[in-house]
Amino acid sequence: MNLFVANWKMNKTRGEAAAYAREFGAILGERDPGVEIVLAPPFTALDAARDPSGRWSIAGQNVSSEAAGAYTGEVSATMLAEAGCRYAIVGHSERRRLFGEDAAILARKLARVREAGLTPIYCLGETEAEREEGLTATTLVSQVETLARDPSDRPLVIAYEPVWAIGTGKAATIEDAGSVRIHLSELLSDRRDVRILYGGSVTPENCRPLLEEARVDGFLVGGASLKASTFAAVAGVLRR
Ligand code: PGA
Repeated sequence: MNLFVANWKMNKTRGEAAAYAREFGAILGERDPGVEIVLAPPFTALDAARDPSGRWSIAGQNVSSEAAGAYTGEVSATMLAEAGCRYAIVGHSERRRLFGEDAAILARKLARVREAGLTPIYCLGETEAEREEGLTATTLVSQVETLARDPSDRPLVIAYEPVWAIGTGKAATIEDAGSVRIHLSELLSDRRDVRILYGGSVTPENCRPLLEEARVDGFLVGGASLKASTFAAVAGVLRR
């Protein structure tokens, strides 16, 4: 089933999250959306963003690489699971770039996520410089290696997010997203259950061809997820 994840990043208070959840719930109505929807609010708003009737689930935007203990400011995978999360985002390029999260840390995070029974949404993608140097494939291979110890019989979500496309208004072309999707499927061919999402400047205007022609399994949406109606349009659940 296609999967649409709203990554709110550091946006929305609890009150704003609750208002969004009400509006999004009204858009969906009683029907089964026919797609899987996940909201990833800031930790403080996880509870406010939940849907009591289960039409969408919630995800942590980040998770600690440690299980518990003296790690001031961290939130563990167990805490996320207990707060009702089904997923945790691991390896978002903002975490890699702004907070120095390297492959070793990300592998530890993946392990904690699995121990807590959550499914990781593992983000990867090349920078503009890597792309210009023709290093896209090499970068993806090394980022996939971080999953080497992740159990291949468990469901996995990959989000291909080229760094140059995030928040820039410059989404990948259908050709680029499509060829990376094929490459990633090959790299992950030992997996029984993997969905490959695309992320980076996804909007209601550009999402259909990416879904239908690049044949990704859904999107990780930043800016366009901040308004309930816009995210609903991307997920294809807006009533006409
Ligand atoms: P964007 O962000 O949709 O605003 O480009 C995507 C992301 O960073 O997950």
